[in-house]
Amino acid sequence: MWLKQVLPVLAALMGKSMVDAKAVFAHFIVGNVQAFSQADWETDIATAQAAGIDGFALNIAAGDTSNGVSVQKAFDAADAKGFKLFFSFDYAAWGAWDKNAIVSYINTYKGRASYYLQGSQPLASTFEGPDNATDWFDIRSSTGAFFMPDYSSKGPQWAVNSGVVDGLFSWDAWPDGASDMTTATDQLYKNVLGGKPYMMPVSPWFFANVYNKAWVWRGEDLWYDRWQQVLQVQPELVEIITWNDYGESHYIGPLWDSEMGLFVSGNAPFNYAAGHPHDGWRLFLPYLIQQYKTGSATISQEGLSTWYRLNPNTACTADVTGNDPAGHGQQYVDPALVLQDRVFYSALLGSSATVSVSIGGVVQQGTWENVPAGGAGIYHGSVPFNGGTGQVVVTISRNGVTISEVLGASITTSCESGIENWNAWVGSATGAAPSLPGTTITTSTTSTTTSSTTTTTTPPGQQVCVSGVGSGNYQGLCSFSCSYGYCPAGVCTCTAFGTQRAPPPSTGQKGYPLAGLPDRCSYLGLCSFVYDHGYYPDTACSSDPAGASGC
Ligand SMILES: *[C@@H]1O[C@H](CO)[C@@H](O)[C@H](O)[C@H]1NC(C)=O
Repeated sequence: MWLKQVLPVLAALMGKSMVDAKAVFAHFIVGNVQAFSQADWETDIATAQAAGIDGFALNIAAGDTSNGVSVQKAFDAADAKGFKLFFSFDYAAWGAWDKNAIVSYINTYKGRASYYLQGSQPLASTFEGPDNATDWFDIRSSTGAFFMPDYSSKGPQWAVNSGVVDGLFSWDAWPDGASDMTTATDQLYKNVLGGKPYMMPVSPWFFANVYNKAWVWRGEDLWYDRWQQVLQVQPELVEIITWNDYGESHYIGPLWDSEMGLFVSGNAPFNYAAGHPHDGWRLFLPYLIQQYKTGSATISQEGLSTWYRLNPNTACTADVTGNDPAGHGQQYVDPALVLQDRVFYSALLGSSATVSVSIGGVVQQGTWENVPAGGAGIYHGSVPFNGGTGQVVVTISRNGVTISEVLGASITTSCESGIENWNAWVGSATGAAPSLPGTTITTSTTSTTTSSTTTTTTPPGQQVCVSGVGSGNYQGLCSFSCSYGYCPAGVCTCTAFGTQRAPPPSTGQKGYPLAGLPDRCSYLGLCSFVYDHGYYPDTACSSDPAGASGC
């Protein structure tokens, strides 16, 4: 009798915690898979599930006549596999969506078991389309959709002021020019959203030379950095950009020959995805996603992921710009400064190990630029090409014993069509179970014959910046922000890590860079953070949003 009364309450509580669960999606370009059968969809879905990804954001372009058939197969496959999907209506590829077509898509599929619900509402997103934002008042009332568009071209304040959004997705996943990515924009989104959900973008790379898009943004350390930033920012949702956008080189899904038509129709100089697998970028996703969702993760197997470009910087014609002066109004940067001649590597390890990189037989001892707290977790670093060409071999070893080794593709100064391929080649290898004297817990996590060891790592959320410095006008901002765990690299330097201190309570005050400051966009995140916590430095920030325009 007692149980009967308690169970419904429990079920309700569990239901509540399920609807608020964090989730990780990958952006999927439906227009690339006109040739996919339902079985092909199921293959890609199984690959994504093995990486711990919860679902795909189905990017569909207005007026693409292949959408109807593809979407039907996608939902049938996702229902069969227990995977999630939601629509991301692309307003930029082929123009604006008709609102009735959107209502029809959402209402046709929102009842599927595989349609992702935010709370109890079907999630819907966009790629751009702010000029048609007001359409969504009607679309929301006709579908019950929970609307989290990407209106990055207008920025989060504009989007929230429109009154039509339930949350926001940002497309701002790459750094500007020859610098590394910070969380400044993410912080701004979170503050402006004031508690509405934020879907944070995570991308490994950007190089396009197709459909009149011809630029690079910095990848390099980005895949490592950005996941650490996810752990720090703790967004409600994460969207990986992308699963299969081969034209922009940020795919993490497998290469399918049947999806390469865009290089012809988009007039690319050659197919720069061919021979450039990115599968190795998925290796640590189960670990990272577990960390993001639960605050800790287990290492059941060590491994190595490595990436680099196959054409050294100045070997051939660049054919692209660094940054996008034409489309995004950015300052031109030499692409050879944006992407450096280096071999990047990340390793998931139970304890410290050494890394060496051989290029054409010349061996370098690598170093770790990032070491996980407590010694177990993801290590990361890179070494320069040093002018080397030939086969790349990256080896992780401990006490002289090889743990993981990638025999990689060769670096060459001979480029296809005489034009630089700025895409990354990615490889990976798994290794033995970790052995960590003293902290290893032996568990029987698998039913296979080999016993596996499991290491519990210190959740990175418990180790945050507790003290930091900045120079000149950043001094006060950095010393305040870094002491509460927000210490954006590039402008501030963290000098000590420890347990998160509670910052002064949120004021709800929105802060922006002071208009006219040199390099004012670099103050975005800091001003937003300090205003929200009651610190108002009048030489750097103000409450006037004009200071953030164009950032
Ligand atoms: C979208 O907005 C633009 C600009 O306001 C407008 O010209 C266009 O007609 C709208 N498109 C649709 C399909 O409503």
